[in-house]
Amino acid sequence: MEGNNVRNIAFFLGKGGVGKTTLSAAFSLELAKRGKRVLVVSLDPAHNLGDALGIRLVDRPEPVLERLFAMEIDLTAWVERYLEESRSELKALYAYNSSFNLDSFFDIMRYSPGTEEYAMLWAIENVYCELSAGYDVVVFDTPPTALSLRFLALPTISGLWVNELTKLREHILKKRQVISRLNPESPVAASCVDKDDDRVHGKLSLISKRLGVLHRLFSEESFISVIVNPDVLSVSEAMRIKDELDRIGIGLHAACLNKRGASTAAWRIDDGLKALPLFELDYKPEGIRSPDDLSRVDVSALAAEFLGVE
Ligand SMILES: Nc1ncnc2c1ncn2[C@@H]1O[C@H](COP(=O)(O)OP(=O)(O)OP(=O)(O)O)[C@@H](O)[C@H]1O
Ligand SMILES: [Mg+2]
Repeated sequence: MEGNNVRNIAFFLGKGGVGKTTLSAAFSLELAKRGKRVLVVSLDPAHNLGDALGIRLVDRPEPVLERLFAMEIDLTAWVERYLEESRSELKALYAYNSSFNLDSFFDIMRYSPGTEEYAMLWAIENVYCELSAGYDVVVFDTPPTALSLRFLALPTISGLWVNELTKLREHILKKRQVISRLNPESPVAASCVDKDDDRVHGKLSLISKRLGVLHRLFSEESFISVIVNPDVLSVSEAMRIKDELDRIGIGLHAACLNKRGASTAAWRIDDGLKALPLFELDYKPEGIRSPDDLSRVDVSALAAEFLGVE
């Protein structure tokens, strides 16, 4: 993929059932037809992307059609990987302390709030760092709003924590320096006093860097569309998504009205969304069951907006 600040990653967000998977697939297909090499990645543990594309997907890119590749993230495997990494790091750090029962700690951590979001974040990082270089565009099909908003916000929120912990660690190292100077015989003098040599400080800097890369991925390199249907509830949810993303410095780039004509009930697009370019996709009463059906969902204007062409 091209360098920084180029929007070559796309996310589709929206209420359950509005068409995130359908539009992720149709959009990816359209870009592949326009000559782009595209990887579409399902982040949704429910994994409907394979059904939309008509093939069985796994946790690595598989060819679907010419220039189009797809995969689904195995979130359970990523949770295990994240726990295992944390376990071996902590074991190394607390090797001297056998009274601390790490196994029961990790049993609790597996089901703790935030674990799934972290696992998803590292899975996205892996796609970005290890796989995206082989493609012109990466499209993410997202899970339900609550989980999506949490992993999008995680780099910002964790970044604040890591900054505070770093300050605290620097404070500790300064205190150690003072004690070592006053009493070179003290056991503290034998411990690490310099932040450049300190493992904990090094680890915090590394986490901070990884979180910074992910926040930039979301806020600067991604084209994020919010999808609504012609109904009041999906519009309210889109507004909630916009407000939450505004708060963490992530902008939306497009609104998609999917299933236009599906209902005659009264609804209107919220003023807060009117500033976004709007793309309208018709309701297909015959349903969408194959890549052929997907290619009849007319996402050409949206693709042109993404590519910055007329
Ligand atoms: N324009 C359309 N016309 C007709 N049917 C559509 C259209 N867009 C989506 N659908 C259908 O609506 C249903 C929900 O779509 P889809 O699975 O893409 O939504 P989603 O937002 O990914 O849902 P979830 O939140 O469950 O992941 C599917 O059966 C899909 O085929
Ligand atoms: Mg879906």
